[in-house]
Amino acid sequence: MDFKLEIAKLLAVAVPMELEEAFAAIEVPPNTEMGDYAYPCFKLAKVFRKAPPMIAAELMEKLEKPDFIDEIKVQGAYLNFFTNKSVYVSEVLTEVLKKTYDFGKSDIGQGKTIVIDYSSPNIAKPFHVGHLRSTVIGNAIYKIYEALGYQCEGVNHLGDWGTQFGKLIVAYKKWGSKEAVEEGGIQELMRIYVKFHDEAEKEPALDDEARGWFVKMQDGDEEALSLWKWFYDISIKEFERVYQMLGVTFDAYTGESFYNDKMAPVVEELRQKKLLTESEGALIVDLEEEGMPPCLIIRKDGGTLYATRDITAALYRKNKYNFEKCIYLTALDQNLHFAQWFKVIEKMGYDWSKDLIHVPFGLVSLDSGKLSTRHGNVVLMEDLLNQAIAETQKIIQEKNPQLPDKEKVAKQVGIGAVIFNDLYNNRMKDVVFSWEKMLNFDGETGPYVQYTHARACSILKRAQNPLDLEDISYSLLTDDVSVEVCKLLEQYPAKIKDAANKLEPSIVTRHLVDIAQAFNKFYHDNPILSSEDDVKKARLALVYAVKVVLSSGLALLGISSPEQM
Ligand code: ARG
Repeated sequence: MDFKLEIAKLLAVAVPMELEEAFAAIEVPPNTEMGDYAYPCFKLAKVFRKAPPMIAAELMEKLEKPDFIDEIKVQGAYLNFFTNKSVYVSEVLTEVLKKTYDFGKSDIGQGKTIVIDYSSPNIAKPFHVGHLRSTVIGNAIYKIYEALGYQCEGVNHLGDWGTQFGKLIVAYKKWGSKEAVEEGGIQELMRIYVKFHDEAEKEPALDDEARGWFVKMQDGDEEALSLWKWFYDISIKEFERVYQMLGVTFDAYTGESFYNDKMAPVVEELRQKKLLTESEGALIVDLEEEGMPPCLIIRKDGGTLYATRDITAALYRKNKYNFEKCIYLTALDQNLHFAQWFKVIEKMGYDWSKDLIHVPFGLVSLDSGKLSTRHGNVVLMEDLLNQAIAETQKIIQEKNPQLPDKEKVAKQVGIGAVIFNDLYNNRMKDVVFSWEKMLNFDGETGPYVQYTHARACSILKRAQNPLDLEDISYSLLTDDVSVEVCKLLEQYPAKIKDAANKLEPSIVTRHLVDIAQAFNKFYHDNPILSSEDDVKKARLALVYAVKVVLSSGLALLGISSPEQM
């Protein structure tokens, strides 16, 4: 039963007004003394030309009190509804126990496709912590939309095309060797790439040479492409190791190179729509009227650009997926890039340009000194994840050395901690890496939520008997802490929807912390296994409901929930 909806129905009849309007107006008061739901009468003052408290009083007379409401009170301009706790708890828990891992899921997205462009690291460059955020936030948004019934398409728009590969080819030919690249992988590619930049400062002709190689790549030159492919394969192998650690997968690895042979018709379309202007030998779309610098489409030397490929990719995706929304996850320093080329799509006359959504996020900063930086300034994802696992191993060794499957749990907890930390705050906020904070089992952290889940599992295990979920006396769960847990469980489905609408996984992350905190209070205040049979049974049902919701919530964030830790 949707309590808010039921109350809205009563109001809609009594006032009368549209059901949706009534529903939207109902609030959840800040504390339970003011009831569980409240209806403010301010808006009706205009309609009835009376003071809001008077309207509230009159309205109360008209309302027929249903069984699930214990009391309706007029408090100032508000009508406050007090639900019957047993009915409330019973409704909420019955629903969770019936749906278990499907609780919170919905089919509102049925028949609609969402494309999510995330992670998208650059080939031949190390996968650094900056890409972590795109990967982790994108993955959570994917899972959240999937839970709402949307068809999700996760696309890794790899940075695998562009002049930088011309530079890499020149660098390889001058300062590299097959053996060194095979041995050193991305690190070696990075080394020769950096060397190129140092040398090109002294000898600008190198840049021309690099552009020449990129033009060869564009034209399908065999040597250029086979070198490029080799660099590509080396990089992908390293990236996949990181994805595997994070448990992240993609539906398509269509990077920038995929659009090499698809850009010409798009440039032609821009020309036909009279959007291209020549400027210093280059072709641009002028965006002066929109108050933005021009969007560069073709370079003076004929080379295409990042934006050219993004425009082409958007057209390709619209055609292939007919998406409802196409979401791009990058740091906020790319705001202008997306604003520019979204505008170009709009100018081309595509009304779906409004469905292209850039979802920016803040930067990652490091709690200095604590993170080993093996390679100068770049902190590699793989190092970071391995360090998280090693730190967790230390904690497990200290707290629970007998734990079975220690290695596996250390991975789940260490990596979970990194992901959770990334998703805990509003995504625009910068993320700080501090092992101490991230791995604090008592803080607002991944390990804390995982630990709470494991605690619930352990209670259920110690109860031994197969869990009996029939004929539960919900009236035994009407104490404040139990009701508080149920309230939070009841809000969980709405939180998932809210997180999807705002593209903000932190809404789920924080709600899980709230549930875990309320549950730990419940556990602290209410003896479970030592209680009378019917009380024990009711409390175990609540423990089970919490276990299920914590685990499915963690899964939405891309975090596993070990049963023991
Ligand atoms: N490769 C880019 C980078 O690392 C991110 C690509 C984001 N996606 C896109 N369609 N532009 O900065």
